Amino acid sequence: MSVTVFAFNESDILAKSVASHLHADFSCVDIHHFPDRESCVRINPDDVTDVCIVVASLYDPDKKSLSLIFLSETLRDYGAERIILVAPYLAYMRQDKRFKDGEGITAQYYARLISRYFNALVTIDPHLHRIHHLNDIYSIPTKVLHAAPVVADWIKDNIEQALLIGPDSESEQWVSDLSQRAKAPYVVLEKVRYGDRDVNVSVPHVEKWLQHQPVLFDDIISTGKTMIETIRHLKQAGLSPPVCIGIHGVFSDQAYQELLATGAERIITTNTITHPSNAIDVSHLIVKGLQELLKP
Ligand code: R5P
Repeated sequence: MSVTVFAFNESDILAKSVASHLHADFSCVDIHHFPDRESCVRINPDDVTDVCIVVASLYDPDKKSLSLIFLSETLRDYGAERIILVAPYLAYMRQDKRFKDGEGITAQYYARLISRYFNALVTIDPHLHRIHHLNDIYSIPTKVLHAAPVVADWIKDNIEQALLIGPDSESEQWVSDLSQRAKAPYVVLEKVRYGDRDVNVSVPHVEKWLQHQPVLFDDIISTGKTMIETIRHLKQAGLSPPVCIGIHGVFSDQAYQELLATGAERIITTNTITHPSNAIDVSHLIVKGLQELLKP
């Protein structure tokens, strides 16, 4: 079985690493933007194999999704039989219900769209909240990988006497798992979100952890408001400046700079989305997931 890994958009480094660990060929995708803002996807036809793996981090999905579909169609035209999408960060997982009358449930619609153009999906810690399994919305085989083991290794190697802090009840699934793996205590706070950029976090009693190094953990850092609000409370409680770890560093607008300015000691993310804060590599995780999926 011949396999080629295609790098879509800014995923070159991760895609190259996946191809090399998988002993597969690597190929780049060229996306040309015309003056009228239409785009053209171009691949090297000689690189198309029976199985094509497309590595595409899907943050900023509205800008990327149409080209992604064009890429799938192009690969199919050139003979690809099985196209596997590796989306280390999977978009459109948060609008998983109708929050206000008249809204669409975009998690479902996006899942239908991707399921139509790809044969399988590999992703890392998708934001599963009210939807419990990806296959509740995706009709193709999916492989969900978890960054907890590599994040826990990073914490063990880099932080002494860590206290893990999850900013809201949704984060408990990750923080409790990390706590076991990194052998560190954890607390989970309560968050109320009033709007996209308006978040309130309540901090329970953390006084007994004053000697610990707080490690704030969340699956996604987007506007950064969740972490910023939490840092303010931790400061008031007298804790040291926290190390902030996010699996997916979306960092909209000035989120990264604001987080540092509020007093994060360090901001660490995995390379599911390329960013200067990337310190934890997920390529081995992806390769393991792909190997399982590719087993005959
Ligand atoms: C919540 O649903 C997620 O787990 C994160 O807490 C959230 O995405 C963080 O968003 P922001 O950085 O915009 O506060």
